[in-house]
Amino acid sequence: MNHFEYRQNTLHCENVALSSLAAEFGTPLYVYSTATLERHWRVFDHAFRDIPHLICYSVKANSNLAILRLFANLESGFDIVSGGELARVLRVSGDPAKVVFSGVGKTVDEIRQALSYDILCFNVESEEELRTISAVALAEGKRAPISLRVNPDVDAKTHAYISTGLKTTKFGIPIRDATEIYDLARSLPAIDVRGIDCHIGSQLLEIEPFVESLRHVLDLLRALRAQGFQLSVLDIGGGLGIPYTDESPPDPQQYADAMCKELEGWNVQVLLEPGRVIVGNAGILLTRVLYWKSNEDKHFVVVDAGMNDAMRPAMYGARHNIVPVELNPQAVEFMVDVVGPICESADFLGKCRKMPKMMQGELLAMMTSGAYGFSMASNYNSRPRAAEVLVNGGVAYCVRQRETIDSLFSLEAIPPFLS
Ligand code: LLP
Repeated sequence: MNHFEYRQNTLHCENVALSSLAAEFGTPLYVYSTATLERHWRVFDHAFRDIPHLICYSVKANSNLAILRLFANLESGFDIVSGGELARVLRVSGDPAKVVFSGVGKTVDEIRQALSYDILCFNVESEEELRTISAVALAEGKRAPISLRVNPDVDAKTHAYISTGLKTTKFGIPIRDATEIYDLARSLPAIDVRGIDCHIGSQLLEIEPFVESLRHVLDLLRALRAQGFQLSVLDIGGGLGIPYTDESPPDPQQYADAMCKELEGWNVQVLLEPGRVIVGNAGILLTRVLYWKSNEDKHFVVVDAGMNDAMRPAMYGARHNIVPVELNPQAVEFMVDVVGPICESADFLGKCRKMPKMMQGELLAMMTSGAYGFSMASNYNSRPRAAEVLVNGGVAYCVRQRETIDSLFSLEAIPPFLS
């Protein structure tokens, strides 16, 4: 369910026609729906109503300040992976006591920063990181709350680049080594052991890998409690998939039901780190057609958004629906590749798509682009990053201005010997 729909053959976001947004803000343009964002957060939260839980929205999926503020207003927690993401959460008055800090490469500065705000938990991914956090906390006169992120060696059955729960990946501590590291954690001077964390990957389309890894984690929890560890939180990560084209992932309630069944009676606060499922289909990328070109084998629609704006197709072979903003049901359809202006053959938004002949200046919408869209954008080919707009009912607000050419090189310098 989302709030992008055709009205009189024009695609709208809530009550605003996308064509009017393109005219006002230009293209390429990310457009988000407030109603969809809020609905998805509430649906996910409601799905876990039967157990003590906290949603820690995964900031990396979409870190625009307006979107973070919307979730902070709903009293969300946040899953962060850098000092930059922590600063964003603080900027929107998010509650640091609801922040979990994930990631294999936390720096000493980032650890110090997070300690100073008394975050909820560090999800620790290695023995060296654990020792470092302890040393930093000791020096700062603090105690660091931690969970170990365990790697259960479970196949998430998703794209290899976003699968994190196999032992061949860099993530987490092998689950069979975990008790040893928990013993170490208990012996370190400035560490408070709080719980266990596990995240096995992203865009999961089946429930079984979630259940399987949770069972391994609960076995560990049982063993640790038997050894006297007081563990009060269980972070089960994010990763629930969404439909981009014809996928049919479990819905949040089915996912929650399966997890809650396993979690019954364990007396822990469950932390959840959803990203994509909250913001994915709350956003689209609006792009304008530059050229139509054909060779003897193929038709191409060249648009003004490229892989620098939307990286997922190039990086994961991801398929997003791409639809005309103005619908013409009678039009003859062609098989086309929708490609960007960047000098790479991987610069496509979609391959082998059926659509009418697109004319110069017409608009296309790349659907389901709210997650890992703008947050993965770059300036490759010296392209200013797109603007972002948040629609609320009948009103659109610019929540990030389009970058300017000047901003592209504002941090660069020509050394005197070259001038
Ligand atoms: N927690 C941790 C520790 C994570 O690493 C991630 C995502 C999440 C939570 C949120 O996962 P989600 O609910 O969004 O699946 N750029 C890729 C996705 C990378 C995911 C990275 N980690 C993509 O565009 O598909």
